Amino acid sequence: MSGSNVGRNATAPWFFLCFLAICWEDSRLMTSQRRGTHGAIRLAPPAENTLVQTSPKPFRATFALALVAVAALASGFGGGCDDGSGTSGLTLTTSSSSSTGASGGAAGALGLGEEMFSALKPDLVKECGTCHELGGLADTPFLGDPDSSEPDAYDVMTSWPDFIVKDWAASLLLTWPDSTSHGGGQIPDSLRPRLEAWLEQEATAVDDVTTAAVPTIPPKKPIMGFNAVYLDPLGAEFTGMAVTFYAEELTANSLALTEIQLYPTPKLGLKYEHPLFVIYGLGSVDGEPDPIDSFSNVTGELAAGKPGPLGPGTLILGNWKKGAKLGLAFDVLTTFDAAAGGGGEGGGPADTGPCKALASFIADAVPALNPCRNCHGGNNGTATNAVDMSDLDSDTSAACGQILNRISIKDPPKSQLFITTNPQGGASHPFKFGGNATNFNNFVSAVSKWIQSEAN
Ligand code: HEC
Ligand code: HEC
Repeated sequence: MSGSNVGRNATAPWFFLCFLAICWEDSRLMTSQRRGTHGAIRLAPPAENTLVQTSPKPFRATFALALVAVAALASGFGGGCDDGSGTSGLTLTTSSSSSTGASGGAAGALGLGEEMFSALKPDLVKECGTCHELGGLADTPFLGDPDSSEPDAYDVMTSWPDFIVKDWAASLLLTWPDSTSHGGGQIPDSLRPRLEAWLEQEATAVDDVTTAAVPTIPPKKPIMGFNAVYLDPLGAEFTGMAVTFYAEELTANSLALTEIQLYPTPKLGLKYEHPLFVIYGLGSVDGEPDPIDSFSNVTGELAAGKPGPLGPGTLILGNWKKGAKLGLAFDVLTTFDAAAGGGGEGGGPADTGPCKALASFIADAVPALNPCRNCHGGNNGTATNAVDMSDLDSDTSAACGQILNRISIKDPPKSQLFITTNPQGGASHPFKFGGNATNFNNFVSAVSKWIQSEAN
C-alpha cells in the first residue's frame, strides 16, 4: 500500500482529518460522572494494557485516513472505500479479540460483538429487564423492548451514552451498578465476565480520538430518533453543552441529520468553525469524513444561553453504513465567558427570545416542572448546566428563557422537554416519570398550555 505517499501528498485541508482517528481515552473520567451524582465511584484500573501494542497506530491511522480522505475527494462519494483498502494495519489485536481481524462491516451481516451480545442477552434481560426494559421500573430503558425488538436491545445498548467506550472497563454499564446506590444492585458473577468480554470486543471498534489535533467528540452509534451528544469529553468547561439532532436512515447508505442544534450553557458561550461528521463502519476504527464536507464554511458564535442551528441545521451523509458510529470534529471549538465580552450574534432560532407569556409560564409550567428540579435545580451539575432550572422562583424570566430553548413552538409534541422524558420514548435521559404515563401526560398538557400562550 502506498498509503504513506498519499499521506504526504495530501494537502492541508485533509491534514487535520488525519488526526480524527487518534483520540478518546480520558472520556472515562468525565463520562463516569456524567449523571453528576456518582462522584464517589472509583473506576476500575484502565485496560489500556491490552492496547499497548498499537502504539504506532497514530501514524498508520494518519496515512490510512488520508488515503480514505483523498479517495473520498477523488470519487466525491466515500461509500465503500475504506473496507479492506489497506486498513489491516489498523486492526487492534487484543488478546481476546484476534478474531476481529476482518474489521469493517463487509465481513458479515452480524459482527462478532453482536453475536456475543445475542448469546448473553437472555441472561441480561432476566437480570436487568424488569427495570431496564422500555417502560421498566428504572427510567433508563437501555434494553429497548427485548421481545418485539422495537427498539432492538443491541441497537439501544450500543447507542446508549457511555456504554461502548474505548476503555471498556470504564463503561457506565459496569461502573454504575458497581456503585452502592444502584437501584438494582451489583451485576451477578454469572453475567459479569460475559458482559465484560462483550464490552471489550465492542471497544476494539472504538477509535481513540484523545490525541486528535482538533476538538473531536468520540464516535458513538446514533440513536434513530432524538440524540443529545454532550461535549463533556472535550473538557470541564464544556460540561452540559451538547449537539442535538434527529437521525434517520434514508437508505442503506444515507443518514439524514435534522434539526442539528448546538447548545452552549446559560453561563458560557461557544465559538465554532468547520464541524465535520465522520462515519465509522461497523467494527471499524477508520473514520470516513462526510464525503462532501458539507459544513466546511460553517463558523459561528453562540452567546451564553442562546443555542442555534449548526449551519443549515440539516445534513445528509452519503457514506452511511448500517450499524456505523458517528464522530464529530471541529476545526475550532472554544467557550467564552459571556460577561467578559464575546457575545456576538446569537444566530439562535426564532424561538429563543425572552418569554412572551411569563404569566402562563408561572401558572402552568413552573408547577409541572417540579419533579425536574431534583436534578436541574442545582443538585446535578451536568443536568443544571444543560437546562438550568435553579432560578425558577428567584429569576423566573431567566429560567423561562432556558426552558424556551427546549421547546418547539411550531410543533409542541416535538419539544425536547417531552421527547426526553416520555416513558415510552427511547431517549437516554435519566428521568421519565418513573414510567408513569399519566404523570407524563399531565406534564405535557400543563406545559403545552404555556407553549400555546407563547405561540399566540
Ligand atoms: C430493581 C430494579 C433494577 C434492576 C433489576 C437493575 N437496575 Fe439498573 N438501575 C435501576 C435504577 C432505579 C436506576 C436509576 C438510578 C439508580 O438507582 O442507580 C438504574 C440505573 C442503571 C444504570 C445507569 C444508566 C444511565 O444511563 O444512567 C446502569 C448502567 C444500570 N442501571 C445497569 C444495570 C444492570 C447491568 C442491571 C442488571 C445486571 C441492572 N441495572 C438491574 C434499577 C435497576
Ligand atoms: C435524575 C436526574 C434528572 C431529572 C429528575 C431530570 N433530568 Fe433532565 N437531564 C438530566 C441530565 C443528567 C441531563 C444531561 C444529559 C445527560 O447526561 O443525559 C439532562 C438533560 C435534559 C435535557 C436536555 C436534552 C437531553 O436529553 O440531554 C432536557 C430537555 C431535560 N433534561 C428535561 C428534563 C425535564 C423536563 C425534567 C422533568 C420532567 C427532567 N429533565 C428531569 C437529569 C435529570
